[in-house]
Amino acid sequence: MITKDEVCNVHAMTEEAKYNLLKEVITDYDRKESNLIQILHMAQAIFGYVPAEVQHFIADQMELSLSKVNSVLTFYSFFSTQPKGKYTVSICLGTACYVRGGKEVLNKLKSVLGIDVGATTEDKIFSLSVMRCIGACGLAPAMTINNKVYKQVNPNKIPRILGMLK
Ligand code: FES
Repeated sequence: MITKDEVCNVHAMTEEAKYNLLKEVITDYDRKESNLIQILHMAQAIFGYVPAEVQHFIADQMELSLSKVNSVLTFYSFFSTQPKGKYTVSICLGTACYVRGGKEVLNKLKSVLGIDVGATTEDKIFSLSVMRCIGACGLAPAMTINNKVYKQVNPNKIPRILGMLK
């Protein structure tokens, strides 16, 4: 079975090769509807996001309706139907982070980046998302930028943190 590690070099692949790989993934998962979430994870790993064309492809290959594929995709916040920016900024809105100012940090992120949750800046540098507890409650509010965790963030720190990445 193809693993996520095997799709780490997808940047060098042609679109055709990506679709061929996705077809193999779907075959490996026996085209079963019960494996749809895993298949969507792999599709996102291959394409970086799951655009409408890829949703159509998965629906055709699995003999599912497009609305079935789309409803699963849009139900889970970790899937994206839009291309992501170079940096994905995620603020935790779990209980501890929320009560310690996570919402204010989110509002600052929205105003500094000029985008809403789920969107990407025009220059394709930043995407903004929210997440649930990442286990850093003792140092809430927590935020991540790609894989790096930022603890005890507050609205005043946001411009400097984002500015360092530009
Ligand atoms: S609630 Fe945010 S890290 Fe736990």
